[in-house]
Amino acid sequence: MADVQMLKSKFNEWFGESAEPVRAFLAPGRVNLIGEHTDYNGGYVFPGALTFGTTMLIRRRPDDQLSFASTNFPLRQQISIRDIEFRKEHEWINYPKGVIRELQQRGVTVHGYDILYHGEIPNGSGLSSSASIEVVTAYGIQAMEGVSAIDKVQAALLSQKAENEFMGVQCGIMDQFAVAMGKENHAILLMCDTLEYEHVPFESGAYKLVIGNTNKKRGLVDSAYNERRAQCEQAVQDLQAAFPELKLLGQLTLEQFNEHAHLIQSGIVRKRAKHVVEEIDRVKQAVQVLRAGDLAAFGKLMNGSHESLRDLYEVTGAELDAMVEAAWQVPGVLGARMTGAGFGGCTVSLVHEDSVERFIDKVGKEYTEKTGLVADFYVCQIGDGVKEIKI
Ligand code: GLA
Repeated sequence: MADVQMLKSKFNEWFGESAEPVRAFLAPGRVNLIGEHTDYNGGYVFPGALTFGTTMLIRRRPDDQLSFASTNFPLRQQISIRDIEFRKEHEWINYPKGVIRELQQRGVTVHGYDILYHGEIPNGSGLSSSASIEVVTAYGIQAMEGVSAIDKVQAALLSQKAENEFMGVQCGIMDQFAVAMGKENHAILLMCDTLEYEHVPFESGAYKLVIGNTNKKRGLVDSAYNERRAQCEQAVQDLQAAFPELKLLGQLTLEQFNEHAHLIQSGIVRKRAKHVVEEIDRVKQAVQVLRAGDLAAFGKLMNGSHESLRDLYEVTGAELDAMVEAAWQVPGVLGARMTGAGFGGCTVSLVHEDSVERFIDKVGKEYTEKTGLVADFYVCQIGDGVKEIKI
């Protein structure tokens, strides 16, 4: 957890003292346990919020200016509340600007503020640093503007819209939803088509969730992500020969898919669709076995998810594969997989508490031998979604 007192001193140092109160908000990152590349196909995902993320300190200004600063990036910028446009040279500040524009378009009055962000999620690690800055902004500004009973699902949706339209990244709803709606010690079973959701207790007893950061920068992620989305849309089009009303792959059962998969013309597109439909089925199974307390079965489903992302969806890459394959070899590991969009970023493993130290040592060494990169590991807890924190 960020040291909020230290951040407040920094805030006053950078923006100067004022009689107006400073308030603080935190939106976490997220780790997806299973259900990858299913959200934009209208399927199930099963993420949990982390206990760390992006903290925002905010204070009302007497004018109509928004002044942004971050402890993570040198760029600071002051803009008018009437001039919220995407500007490439505004770098990270475009994230909060996109959200503020969405709020304004929805009729929320946004006054002038001094805002300081402090991010604890490594950027580009696949743990949703962008969703966390978006959602903390959506929530914090509404709180400052006195919006009563802030709707967190709407905060997630408007953040996703900002990312899609302002930032031009075609992400699904999983990240923003998990970051907004997380609950301590619970994962979220979310149906991304209808946004029906349920908090499912994540009781892992002696087993810990260990996140491994490959520290591989996700180079081509945006173009490859959009290509996968287009392939899923192509699969839907081909399958409409049998299901004229079909809009999303997630609307098919596994049986329906298997019976009609031959309608998909391209072999590659068929593989992509097979991953999506089977992954959605794995999420359902995973929740069932978790409820039955069968963590070993949960772990096997995680492994199956990784294999499918590697062989059918082809979004893992050498680094994620090296780390996951090393994890599978360590005694005391029930399951391991990549998490997030892929092509680098993080893995998540379910590891017995007595094996965590050995896990970090062995996986770290083998990963470096195979890739020349140095990994980071975090033993993580599942935390709450966005909230105000006391200063
Ligand atoms: C990224 C996107 C999410 C989701 C995952 C893959 O994290 O932001 O919407 O599509 O990739 O499951």
